Amino acid sequence: MLARRQKIIIALITGSAFLLFFSSSPQLIDHVANVSMKVPYSPWAGRVDCKGEGAFHLQDHSKTEAITETTLPGGAPAPGFTIFDRLYIWNGTMFAVTSNPRAFPQIRYILSQPKEQREGNNLEPTSREMQIITPAEAAPFLGERAVVIEGMTFILYDTSQFMAHYYHWWGEIILGAMRIYSTLSLVPGVRSPLPDPSRFILPNIPDHEWRDRAGVNGPLMRAAFPSTSIERMDFWQDLVDLNQTFVFERAMIVSRSAAHRSPLSTLWYKMISSTMNVTVPTHFWEPLRQRLVLNTVAYLPVMNSAGAVISNPPSQLPIVTYISRQGGGRRLTRESHDGLVKSLNEMSNQGLFELHILRMETLTFSQQVEAVARSTIILGVHGNGLTHQLWMPPSPHSTVIEMFFPGAYIHDYEILARNSGHKHYAVWNDTTLTYPDGEWFKGVDYGPENTFNGNSIPVHGPTVTQVIRERLTSPVL
Ligand SMILES: *[C@@H]1O[C@H](CO)[C@@H](O)[C@H](O)[C@H]1NC(C)=O
Ligand SMILES: *[C@@H]1O[C@H](CO)[C@@H](O)[C@H](O)[C@H]1NC(C)=O
Ligand SMILES: *[C@@H]1O[C@H](CO)[C@@H](O)[C@H](O)[C@H]1NC(C)=O
Ligand SMILES: *[C@@H]1O[C@H](CO)[C@@H](O)[C@H](O)[C@H]1NC(C)=O
Ligand SMILES: *[C@@H]1O[C@H](CO)[C@@H](O)[C@H](O)[C@H]1NC(C)=O
Repeated sequence: MLARRQKIIIALITGSAFLLFFSSSPQLIDHVANVSMKVPYSPWAGRVDCKGEGAFHLQDHSKTEAITETTLPGGAPAPGFTIFDRLYIWNGTMFAVTSNPRAFPQIRYILSQPKEQREGNNLEPTSREMQIITPAEAAPFLGERAVVIEGMTFILYDTSQFMAHYYHWWGEIILGAMRIYSTLSLVPGVRSPLPDPSRFILPNIPDHEWRDRAGVNGPLMRAAFPSTSIERMDFWQDLVDLNQTFVFERAMIVSRSAAHRSPLSTLWYKMISSTMNVTVPTHFWEPLRQRLVLNTVAYLPVMNSAGAVISNPPSQLPIVTYISRQGGGRRLTRESHDGLVKSLNEMSNQGLFELHILRMETLTFSQQVEAVARSTIILGVHGNGLTHQLWMPPSPHSTVIEMFFPGAYIHDYEILARNSGHKHYAVWNDTTLTYPDGEWFKGVDYGPENTFNGNSIPVHGPTVTQVIRERLTSPVL
């Protein structure tokens, strides 16, 4: 122990010496030497009485606070996405401390056991995951004081079953969490602007299992949240090993299977369903989109009201991007693809838009993000490529056109479009379906057997280009 402390001191002194080396002020030399002399009383110089320039200051992060009540700053409007102020954790179990437990949702609407969603798995939460207890009940468990973990923490309390996938991570977990987080900015008395997330914690993920095979989730998280750490099971275990009570200053518990207990989930069967009737700030996603695009492609495309890119490098016309899946499994028939390309080319040649046909798997992800960040309309067969609409700028013309096998409809990209500020059209060969706010396709339909994921999806090219014409020429109010 002593040996270790001495090493820290030596490191501090050596570090200070480096500073001095570059500063050349003799007073500083004396002063830092004096500070170093005091260090043996604490490795944290910030807690030692050292004043003046050149002193080595650290904030005091050994803050503890008395156990006081947990609150829900925005209520708990969406199962599976619950924000707490002062959420306690001890021995790997989370605790809400309240003298009014009835003000809290049932725990099954907050989280589930971290097991895979599979036939026969009971996911109902137990007292191991979380407890809602009164202050009197808290005392024997939590003691009198808790170590404070500052800032806004997102606790993603799931297995890797659905995390390691671009759409499920970005389009449900992160989008849903930010949608609900943004609602705090509408709550009177909550300090705004809301701070960036301080950390994401994945308590049930031992290693890299949250990363998707295509390698997109990780880098894009750093682009969106460059200063936010992503912690996993070992972090949670460190807290257990310390045998101390910790308190998250503010934390959101995100749980897929708790979200699915929302009655709204039966409409769309999507984790994010539970958040969709919560009032959120308009364009809540836009600040994050802009930051991610800027940090991924090094500039932020800006468009005029017609949709042409006016920032460098500019485009003459709005850009329509067809994300082709003809190199993959689920895809159009060859004739449909050829017919669609022919129709798109014809309309593009009339000077209505600039056409880009991309096979995403042939591009780096920064090229992919750049391509959609410059687009006004993207179209493609139902699939992961349409998750990229999250990075397309919202505008009165911005549109996502999703081609399904006729009769099939699932809500993944339609819900993304509602969240990202785009108009969504489903296309069933020569039929289009689109729904205004508050209305939606009823049910979920995978269409005739073995067709949804098949390679024989038909589409009538002129039907698609007609949608594009209407969207690009619709008057902007
Ligand atoms: C360093 O400490 C010595 C002894 O306490 C004191 O005489 C000297 O003034 C201090 N130097 C500075 C720069 O504070
Ligand atoms: C702490 O958690 C473990 C489960 O990981 C459990 O076996 C143990 O009983 C708990 N300790 C106490 C004192 O509750
Ligand atoms: C944890 O802390 C409690 C309270 O201080 C103590 O009673 C208990 O023995 C500790 N458990 C371990 C495993 O250190
Ligand atoms: C949202 O939907 C849930 C479940 O149907 C319902 O309990 C809640 O009142 C709705 N909230 C709003 C704001 O419509
Ligand atoms: C698709 O629509 C076109 C135009 O209405 C029609 O001629 C064609 O038969 C349709 N294809 C299928 C497979 O329904």
